[in-house]
Amino acid sequence: MTRHLITSAIPYINGIKHLGNLVGSQLPADLYARYLRARGNEVLFLCATDEHGTPAELAAAKAAKPVAEYCAEMWAVQAELADGFRLSFDHYGRSSSTQNQKLTQHFAGQLAGNGLILEVVERQVYSNADGRFLPDRYVEGTCPNCGYDRARGDQCENCTKQLDPTDLIDPRSAISGSTDLEVRDTKHLHLRQSAMKDQLDAWISSKTDWPVLTTSIAKKWLHDGDGLQDRGITRDLDWGVPVKKGEEDWPGMEGKVFYVWFDAPIEYIACAQEWVDAGKGDDWERWWRTDKGAEDVTYTQFMGKDNVPFHTLSFPSTILGSGEPWKLVDYIKSFNYLNYDGGQFSTSQGRGVFMDQALEILPADYWRWWLLSHAPESSDSEFTWENFQQSVNKDLADVLGNFVSRITKFCRSKFDEAVPDGGNYGEAEQALIADMQEKLQAYQAHMDAIEVRKAAAALRALWVAGNEYLQSAAPWSTFKEDPDQAAAQVRMGLNLIRLYAVLSAPFIPDASARMLEAMQCDDTTWPADMGEALSVLEPGHAFSVPDVLFAKISDDQREDWQTRFAGTRK
Ligand code: 2FM
Ligand code: ZN
Repeated sequence: MTRHLITSAIPYINGIKHLGNLVGSQLPADLYARYLRARGNEVLFLCATDEHGTPAELAAAKAAKPVAEYCAEMWAVQAELADGFRLSFDHYGRSSSTQNQKLTQHFAGQLAGNGLILEVVERQVYSNADGRFLPDRYVEGTCPNCGYDRARGDQCENCTKQLDPTDLIDPRSAISGSTDLEVRDTKHLHLRQSAMKDQLDAWISSKTDWPVLTTSIAKKWLHDGDGLQDRGITRDLDWGVPVKKGEEDWPGMEGKVFYVWFDAPIEYIACAQEWVDAGKGDDWERWWRTDKGAEDVTYTQFMGKDNVPFHTLSFPSTILGSGEPWKLVDYIKSFNYLNYDGGQFSTSQGRGVFMDQALEILPADYWRWWLLSHAPESSDSEFTWENFQQSVNKDLADVLGNFVSRITKFCRSKFDEAVPDGGNYGEAEQALIADMQEKLQAYQAHMDAIEVRKAAAALRALWVAGNEYLQSAAPWSTFKEDPDQAAAQVRMGLNLIRLYAVLSAPFIPDASARMLEAMQCDDTTWPADMGEALSVLEPGHAFSVPDVLFAKISDDQREDWQTRFAGTRK
């Protein structure tokens, strides 16, 4: 048994996430956590909401709510959706927690003590009417590149040019609309990442087994242009972690907060503290402090590719720079993007299918299966309704669902609602056992390597093997000549259902639970020996015929959804 710490990138608080977000971190992380638990490992699986920064402030303003209230409400919404998708977090925390506030201030103090923080005077837009500095997105004006009159201070939405607030023509405050703006000096803290370049480079170079997507992005930021840049870690905002040096005030930094990307990854650690403080665990340090037992932990992070620089460079700079024995990540699994029907999923434009909408039309397992079996690993992938319909109907309804229904109904009609007695496993069954054993090894190897798509294909191959066996054994024919042999074949079929429930649970936990319930069995031991695993249900063991496991998606439904999700969400 090994101890595994697993974290998923923590989703921004501002709004419900779309399926592209889901498959880029939380869902594959859940797959891996469930798999490792099923194999008997001790797992701590953490996620949280990322609650600071301008996006949170702006979303709260749009909702006309105080930002703390908005965040608390959205946390509850996101936690419920996570539950709906059966994401099995041990704790779903909040980056605005007091634990994270303290820990973030602690890290800043350590970094400062180690000479890794510079105080830098920057020039920034100040709004006299609002009585505050305006960060990027709070300044609007005319784009100097294309003339679009609602360009934001960080980027022009029209021509995509990246901007500085001071580039805008006729700038105005996005809060009040006031044009009474001036450029003032303001002091900020910079983390001297450049001082840690060699250490980071050596560390990343030692990770030869990491996905190319992860290391290539990290290397690009390490070596492109002038190499790794120092990074501003404070902002002139009200909402966030107040800038402090440990517990002490930081002269000159009054009224400022840490940049959201500084405190967000620290929440991975704070979340473990929240988990303990919520009474769900009793020791967070043995997961996070290498001087307190965490040297035995294998730590895996999941994220979309846009998050890679922050996890390969920035957060490790914080950890290493602290000079304290914190656990560093062992493996970073990153994902490309999932596109939606010929374009991109987009939160700001409301394009695509969002988590709440998905669950309104179909149960979680349908989505989990499609998303995971099409995870954007080696390249971007695309969601289309045709592909979704096809994959649900074929894989889930025809291959798995039909198998379960066929064998249970046949047994009930010819024998009873109990595993039939008589006959023995013969040559065909031994061949199936050997084949399944091999296919299980492949499935495990892909799961161990977090090759999500390959693992899905290997699981499907296990379902197919059972189907092919049933097709060629054909107990419905055998029964007429040799009821004893038919009994053994049906026994094998029922045992396959239990086995599929165990093996499929990481992908489709609800259907797996229903299969086990129908088999009236709570033995979820991960198979070691296939022969044994396929004999767990003994003659006489009662079962029941489950309701349809997966309903097929009709053409009408598909067209209906296609139309409903063609536009943008209001
Ligand atoms: O991209 C995002 O959704 C960010 N909120 C991820 C943060 S992950 C980490 F740093 F905590
Ligand atoms: Zn423009």
